[in-house]
Amino acid sequence: MDKLIVQGDADLKGSINISGSKNSSLPILAATLLTEEPCIVRNVPDVSDTNYLIQIMNALGGHVERSSGTVRTEAKGIQHEAPYDLVRKMRASICVMGPLLGRLGRAKVSLPGGCVIGDRPIDLHLKGFEALGAEITMDGGDINVEAPNGLTGAHINLRGKHGPTVLGTDNVMMAAVLAKGTTVIESAACEPEVYDLAEFLNLMGAKISGHGTRTITIEGVEKLHGVDHRVIPDRIEAATFMVAGIMASKEGITLKRVCREHLKVAEDMLVSAGHCVEFNEEGTQVFVKKGDAPKGCEIITSPYPGFPTDMQAQFTAMLALTPGISIIEDTIFPQRFMQCSELKRMGANIEVDGGRAVVHGVEKLSGAPVMASDLRASAALVLAGLTASGETEISRLYHIDRGYENIDEKLEQLGAVVKRVIE
Ligand code: EPU
Repeated sequence: MDKLIVQGDADLKGSINISGSKNSSLPILAATLLTEEPCIVRNVPDVSDTNYLIQIMNALGGHVERSSGTVRTEAKGIQHEAPYDLVRKMRASICVMGPLLGRLGRAKVSLPGGCVIGDRPIDLHLKGFEALGAEITMDGGDINVEAPNGLTGAHINLRGKHGPTVLGTDNVMMAAVLAKGTTVIESAACEPEVYDLAEFLNLMGAKISGHGTRTITIEGVEKLHGVDHRVIPDRIEAATFMVAGIMASKEGITLKRVCREHLKVAEDMLVSAGHCVEFNEEGTQVFVKKGDAPKGCEIITSPYPGFPTDMQAQFTAMLALTPGISIIEDTIFPQRFMQCSELKRMGANIEVDGGRAVVHGVEKLSGAPVMASDLRASAALVLAGLTASGETEISRLYHIDRGYENIDEKLEQLGAVVKRVIE
């Protein structure tokens, strides 16, 4: 298992390019299973999650090839069973279910197991498939979804107790594009990644409207065709490096290939905490620099356009070093505070209680051996390590490799001293 050794007291400088969005690429790649024609998906980050999905798609018969950021698919003859050995490696594998059901009328995928960031049920995905006319059975840890007579459009409300579901909306939308008649999804997720998927499906010939709002309407079509599409920039990677620039740079850093519209909440939060955030006119480049008088703030995660749960851990790391008291509440994954116990080992003063963290900013953290527990928590530890005194050794690096493309190279490009130790 690889480790990352991060040298503290870093002073980041210069610029880097932000990669394509992991959470857009995953459902978009899965959506190519809806057509037998060749598709090209560009700007796909080379991270282990996209690579797992490519393996699953190849096992399904999707003929997927990656050449750097460009992925080519040709899913001529596909089968409906996703192999457990691959599916168990990544919860998001569930996103092949909608396209398999839509195209073949059946899908068999293992039920995802527990997850460290919280209980992650898929009841809403299944509720949507059932509403479209599919029958669901469970057998030996697998979910079988079958619609021998095809799917029929329906009115579906996908609201769960923590709000809308991103992959649930994706899955139902992908199943519904080839259904007979019209489907209306109420309480749909309106994250930019869901919008990007809907745009991709429309390019393929689907008839989707209302994406980007809470009500999505899908008029079923007979067939979809091949397309060439570039996925949106990764707003979570961008926000992570925005926080890095604020925590560990004297003169500030620049991030290129970003989308300002998707980063509005990160921008607002950083500005309200007293920092400098300047976008270019096109909104494709951002310069970030620590402010002269940073102050604590209150963050409550919520669905888009609210503050994303996927940025919470990184902002917690920043607030651990911001004077004053900050309050952080995660309403989407209330247990997602694993970074806090590791940050405390580095000297942070954080109390976590029932989905809420109270952070008393300290002046300095000290490097320590720490353990990554999930993707965004690991990113928070890297950020903390950059600014701590001495060395921070982050073990279980595979968590970060799931979603940050070449993180060590990008940090080195900004002047950080990091070393990957392969064990
Ligand atoms: N939920 C249900 N029932 C369901 C589905 C979800 O109750 O059937 C609940 C979840 O337990 C959670 C809330 O609804 O409390 C939202 O979960 P959602 O379904 O939106 O999560 P997801 O689609 O499985 C995606 C991202 C996550 C991100 C969440 C929330 C992908 C591949 N993953 O997951 O990203 O945290 O949306 O925005 O898009 C990450 O990138 O680090 C990551 C975990």
